[in-house]
Amino acid sequence: MTPTRIVLGITGGIAAYKAAELARLLVKAGYSVDCVLTEAATHFIGAATLQAITGRPVYQDLWDARVPNGMAHIELGRDTAALLIAPAAADFMAKLVHGRADDLLSTLCLARDCPLLIAPAMNRQMWAHPATQRNAAQLIADGVTLLGPAAGEQACGETGLGRMLEAADLFAALTAFLQPKPLAELRVLITAGPTFEPIDPVRGLTNLSSGKMGYALAVCAHAAGAVVTLVSGPTALATPWGVTRIDITRADEMLAAVEGHIADCEIFIAVAAVADYRPAEPQTSKIKKTDAAMTLQLTPTTDILARIAARPDAPFCVGFAAETEAVLEHAAEKRLKKGIPLIVANRAQDTLGHDDATCVLIDAHGTHPLARAPKTEIAAQIITHIAHLYSKG
Ligand code: CTP
Repeated sequence: MTPTRIVLGITGGIAAYKAAELARLLVKAGYSVDCVLTEAATHFIGAATLQAITGRPVYQDLWDARVPNGMAHIELGRDTAALLIAPAAADFMAKLVHGRADDLLSTLCLARDCPLLIAPAMNRQMWAHPATQRNAAQLIADGVTLLGPAAGEQACGETGLGRMLEAADLFAALTAFLQPKPLAELRVLITAGPTFEPIDPVRGLTNLSSGKMGYALAVCAHAAGAVVTLVSGPTALATPWGVTRIDITRADEMLAAVEGHIADCEIFIAVAAVADYRPAEPQTSKIKKTDAAMTLQLTPTTDILARIAARPDAPFCVGFAAETEAVLEHAAEKRLKKGIPLIVANRAQDTLGHDDATCVLIDAHGTHPLARAPKTEIAAQIITHIAHLYSKG
């Protein structure tokens, strides 16, 4: 059985307070979390906090005999999905490089057969120092996975590279790391969200798409090992960890961004609710109100998905069909018309803007209904299906 235990190592740094939130996210996702603190970490976070969040004892001492065989440094590394050190201070990284084992956490790092991930956290000059950079390179060469650091404001008042990743990003990175990788080495381009077609400088045509499904697919494709580029219309969503995002507003900008990147991609997933029409002559000045009725002349936009699917070097294309009635019939028709191997059909009223979705996957083999579930779960099932169809060629 796949282990569901994570050992969360915490070393001395102000970012240690974020480890509490990370532990909470892991526990909420169903992992058992064993926290191991260095002596320095205890100056920043209390064992009681972590014990309360994880519901498990917190370890600090190499001589702690509370584990079954009395040897915490051996026992904690067994049946463990991963050992994540967050924050990993500069000094601890140096220690790891030399294989020193003078406390519980550093000894555990040597006596383990699970993957080791570290989230560096330090002042920007400490991170940029050649010694730390040498250590980071050596740790990567030794098979350690580095998560971050990020750039931004630091506790010392300076700004630069060295901040620990936020807890939510570490959670996403760790869970992605632990997933099977059916899309390894593949490049996936995803469109998401609505487009906005200007009428004048302050008005435009748009739709109710929130971007949630496209973003959830980006998360799952990245977790499945793909290199993911997300071309996004205006949304309120944060860029998923590890995903490259290109922001656009109009349908023609989305088309240009997709055409600019598609040649490098094996899979294209068109989730965006692209405007089918745009105002024929957007005004450069605000339109003034009069008493007369007004007619807005619209002109069709390019169907991005159909255009990509028609290329001689077309990637594996996936479309979405949001329909208000005769969902399956319209979606099946759309799949054939656009010439794509897979379409995801759903009822627009139940899906647009919602956190949950019900959908049916339609491919050359037939229909595959997916029960209503959060979009994050639906997205994982869609990615599994895509990986399966893609692998069959
Ligand atoms: N799509 C696209 N470019 C467009 C319009 C749609 O890439 N200009 C993609 C969507 O991202 C989706 C699929 O085509 O994957 C279906 O979009 P939808 O709007 O439901 O279908 P249409 O072909 O536009 O048909 P209709 O609006 O008549 O239902």
